[in-house]
Amino acid sequence: MAALRDAKIHKDVQDYYGQVLKKSEDLQTNACVTPARPVPKYIREALQNVHEEVTLRYYGCGLVIPEHLKNCWILDLGSGSGRDCYAVSQLVGEMGHVTGIDMTESQVEVAKKYIGYHMNKYGFQIPNVTFIHGYIEKLGEAGIKSDSYDIVISNCVVNLVPDKQQVLQEVYRVLKHGGELYFSDIYASLELPEETRKHKILWGECLGGALYWKDLAILAQKIGFCPPRLVDAHVITVQNKELESVIGDCRFVSATFRLFKLPKTVPAKRYQVIYNGGITGHEEELVFDTNFTFKEGESVEVGGETAAILENSRFAQHFLITPVGEKLPTPGECTVSESKDIITDPFKLAEKLGNWTSRCSSNAASSCCSTKKSC
Ligand SMILES: C[S@@+](CC[C@H](N)C(=O)[O-])C[C@H]1O[C@@H](n2cnc3c(N)ncnc32)[C@H](O)[C@@H]1O
Repeated sequence: MAALRDAKIHKDVQDYYGQVLKKSEDLQTNACVTPARPVPKYIREALQNVHEEVTLRYYGCGLVIPEHLKNCWILDLGSGSGRDCYAVSQLVGEMGHVTGIDMTESQVEVAKKYIGYHMNKYGFQIPNVTFIHGYIEKLGEAGIKSDSYDIVISNCVVNLVPDKQQVLQEVYRVLKHGGELYFSDIYASLELPEETRKHKILWGECLGGALYWKDLAILAQKIGFCPPRLVDAHVITVQNKELESVIGDCRFVSATFRLFKLPKTVPAKRYQVIYNGGITGHEEELVFDTNFTFKEGESVEVGGETAAILENSRFAQHFLITPVGEKLPTPGECTVSESKDIITDPFKLAEKLGNWTSRCSSNAASSCCSTKKSC
């Protein structure tokens, strides 16, 4: 039954992104998910260098370009026409590598068509990008090995996948120790009822398959990731009477989270961390997530979980980390929040930031994820 359901969803989504949509402008929505913080100049330039046809077929819902990418191996889940892949391929440089995987053949074809163009533009002798036609729930079948990537990114895709746990489990498998999943997606304010889930347009709109936001932390813990770190969020308003009546009281948010793969336990201590400012484009401060900004040379007290993330990840060489000796009241398993002030709710963050995004115009065939006016 589940296999049949998954196959039907895959087919509908492939038709939508392969046949119905030809370019971002075919979207009828006025969704314009602009990052809350200013986008660093080096990222704006990397995005501007991407070929026009690739950018025209971009359907993401956030910015999935984390900091400090030089020499990294990056996997993009549901890479579509490859916009994010080409932007990050420039940033990882010739010694890094980017793999994009997508199940919609025509999107993969567009992505592949421009490998030469981008490598030429970036002055790379050997291509550092590969595109695979395949399913993100089955990365093994696509030849993706365990512990092989520093970062997995994904832009508005996991909501379209029926078995989200399978995807996250695969991500955990392919990430190296200290690696992270940095991804933007749509989340719901409650568990969606069957009627909403089964609504074909809402699923295509990236709303019907949206995860209840609290379930992300539950899934992450089940699989072994550290608790999700919230980076950015935008409330999405649905301006379509027909769809609104199906959705009822549910609200939606587009949010960017980072999930780290670390040792299962972290020390029950507090730490002083000092950022040395060495990360290109983030020399003065590193906005790690919505709760932690590290200013160059400034000492910040953090719990064991944040210290473990910094110490075990690619950020390690840019931080001086020393224990302050104070014991936390609870065991320091990688499952407890460090402080009750920490924001984990993307709806609260979006409201706090005043980020509102209209979505789903009167045309019911409209789709999610247009950022054609953003970035
Ligand atoms: C909303 S688009 C986003 C595409 C791309 N990330 C971007 O920002 O332009 C969703 C993409 O996810 C792909 N996709 C959805 N489910 C998938 C799955 N199970 N395996 C692989 N790709 C999938 C679709 O083919 C489509 O290209």
